[in-house]
Amino acid sequence: MSAIRYDLGSDQTLTLTIDMPGQSANTMDAAFRDALGETVARVKADLADLRGIIITSAKKTFFAGGDLNELHKVTREDAEAFETMVNGLKADMRFLETSGKPVVAAINGSALGGGLEIALACHHRVVLNSDAIQLGLPEVTLGLLPGGGGTQRLPRMIGLEAAFPFLMEGKKVAPAAALKAGLVDELADDTDDMLAKARAFIDANPQCQQPWDKKGFKLPGGAPHHPAMAQKLAIAPAMLKQKTRGCYPAPERILSAAVEGAQVDFDSGSLIETRYFAELVIGQVAKNMTGTFWFQLNAIKAGGSRPSGVERARFAKVGVLGAGMMGAGIAYSTAVKGIDVVLKDVSVDNAEKGKAYSDKLLAKKVSRGRLTEAQKAEILDRIKTTDSADDLAGCDLVIEAVFEDSGLKAKVTQEAEPQLAANGIFASNTSTIPITQLAEASAKPDNFIGLHFFSPVDKMQLVEIIVGAQTSDDTLARAFDYVQQIGKIPIVVNDSRGFFTSRVFGTFVNEGVAMLAEGIAPASIENAGVLSGMPVGPLAISDEVSLTLMQHIRAQSKKDTEAAGGTWVPHPAEAIIDQMVDQQGRKGKAAGAGFYEYPDNGKKYLWPELDRLFVDADKARSIALQELKDRILFVQAIETVRCLEEGVLRTVEDANIGSIFGIGFAPWTGGAIQFINQYGVRAFTERAKELAAAYGERFTPPKLLLEKAETNSVFA
Ligand code: NAI
Repeated sequence: MSAIRYDLGSDQTLTLTIDMPGQSANTMDAAFRDALGETVARVKADLADLRGIIITSAKKTFFAGGDLNELHKVTREDAEAFETMVNGLKADMRFLETSGKPVVAAINGSALGGGLEIALACHHRVVLNSDAIQLGLPEVTLGLLPGGGGTQRLPRMIGLEAAFPFLMEGKKVAPAAALKAGLVDELADDTDDMLAKARAFIDANPQCQQPWDKKGFKLPGGAPHHPAMAQKLAIAPAMLKQKTRGCYPAPERILSAAVEGAQVDFDSGSLIETRYFAELVIGQVAKNMTGTFWFQLNAIKAGGSRPSGVERARFAKVGVLGAGMMGAGIAYSTAVKGIDVVLKDVSVDNAEKGKAYSDKLLAKKVSRGRLTEAQKAEILDRIKTTDSADDLAGCDLVIEAVFEDSGLKAKVTQEAEPQLAANGIFASNTSTIPITQLAEASAKPDNFIGLHFFSPVDKMQLVEIIVGAQTSDDTLARAFDYVQQIGKIPIVVNDSRGFFTSRVFGTFVNEGVAMLAEGIAPASIENAGVLSGMPVGPLAISDEVSLTLMQHIRAQSKKDTEAAGGTWVPHPAEAIIDQMVDQQGRKGKAAGAGFYEYPDNGKKYLWPELDRLFVDADKARSIALQELKDRILFVQAIETVRCLEEGVLRTVEDANIGSIFGIGFAPWTGGAIQFINQYGVRAFTERAKELAAAYGERFTPPKLLLEKAETNSVFA
């Protein structure tokens, strides 16, 4: 059975329906390429009598894009053959585009990446008007570029500047926004309407040519050499460098492909695109990013660390205790996914304030046309505010997000548990208290688990599930299902101070402060943080976290270490934090002063006194940026290995995904463990030893790393 159905109607309209056998979605793999080649051969034979062609799909989505399994395997040696293959595929699409007959894409589902590129090669695009449909070119988010003509056709359709957010940021849009942006030409109410509109276009346009194949074609918005455009393009690479910190080759290559391609005829542009595409496909960054954001993320979505053999749970009613910053966010994220929420605080007034947060977020969506007033009202109706535990009756899950106080958490646990449905579970959103310790207050510690959300909850995709000593597999599986039901990404960690994300994040923050202790200039430290791929510098983050909270967390860790018979080894960051808080009275951002100054009406800036207090001029001059960047990445990667070694983490997938989505570890590395793999486990271990000799034990390679280096194996 061919992957493309060929239906020639009695009116000589040809419908090509892409329906790849045995696959849930259509992808641009070898079977598709073969089918396209055969289809084009048939079209050539039938061409004289054809009225026009409609391309559509029999799957739920129109077309899913490139075959990442295949792309992931392409090596440097294959580059030339790969280019030939891509150009062959593009030539087939190009034949249809230049055949003279009208070709219409009837887009019945999401068209992303290669899917949208097929549609762009058509003369007209009609898309079903459904919010479930997305259109875009997300290749850049995997370190790739739209190599199926996307960098050439989209700028020719909507102009270079308008195309950039789609090409370089991977922006995705729903059909209505796609129409506005000029990605598609018409919206359809249903399949019949879509096909009728496609036929109407064919009737009205018996001969068709793309604008760019016509004489005298002018690039919309101005050609690259047009003075206004030339001015914008001149600064584009610098802006891009700043945005991507020079770590992502893909946006730069996309910019080059689009701009260079726009200055030549379409077919030459297409060849330029293929060359850049091949360069990215064989590069390490694309391997890291497809490996983690595609294969590993999918492994988590397919079940990841969820215990198998437990039936999937569906959640209908969830209680949230505490309507503060986190509780309000959890209530929102749960209600928007169709689950009833009981939001409880000490007063109904407080709970209402938490609910108002949902109102605010939903109103924004309404104003952007993403939601109707009626849908907003329906979601808000799902959130019931209360000050009484009785209203929690029948909840499948209760999540507490009250103040970080174990006594208070014990009290609310005991109030809520009797109200749970028969197989209901109880979760704590604590950020620092061990789950096993909190579970002591529970009558059913096997039903007690940690669900560590990140702030802001509506934006952050990761949830760290923490398994206490007595948490059952059943409870873990149910918690995993809830996280997936609200559309977030679950990673599973075993109970440990700081769990996984906070523990590793702490090493990053402390490393930055330790650099200050050594006399390194604060601006260099912040710069190294950002250039190593972290979203913000370690000193800025210390201020966000608050220096007093850092003191508090350290005091607790010290107490626990000593209680367990261990010896506390002070971190070089400690003295600086103490001096900032105790002598300088600078407690962080919330207190209005920390490593940074926070002027009332202006941007924050590094506190100038830091130079006088801490900086050693010789040291500041002699230190190499690479050394600082290495320290920032290595200290986190090594701590992540310790988490694997200690069983805090169960899988490499959870480590990589958790480090990127929860900590902000550079996405282009593919995550903290992939960073080690790509560095080379042996080379990484040797470098870690050097750093340990220079800066201390925190860089000492853990046993697990030494074993991997010994056997020259990777973390798989
Ligand atoms: P918050 O101070 O904004 O909110 C706490 C809420 O709990 C307040 O509205 C308070 O009135 C309410 N509350 C107090 N006693 C209550 C009771 N007996 N019953 C019901 N509600 C009660 O705190 P936030 O930032 O939302 O943190 C909540 C929890 O989430 C803490 O355990 C915190 O460690 C944790 N967390 C915080 C993160 C953050 O970024 N702020 C991130 C991850 C976890």
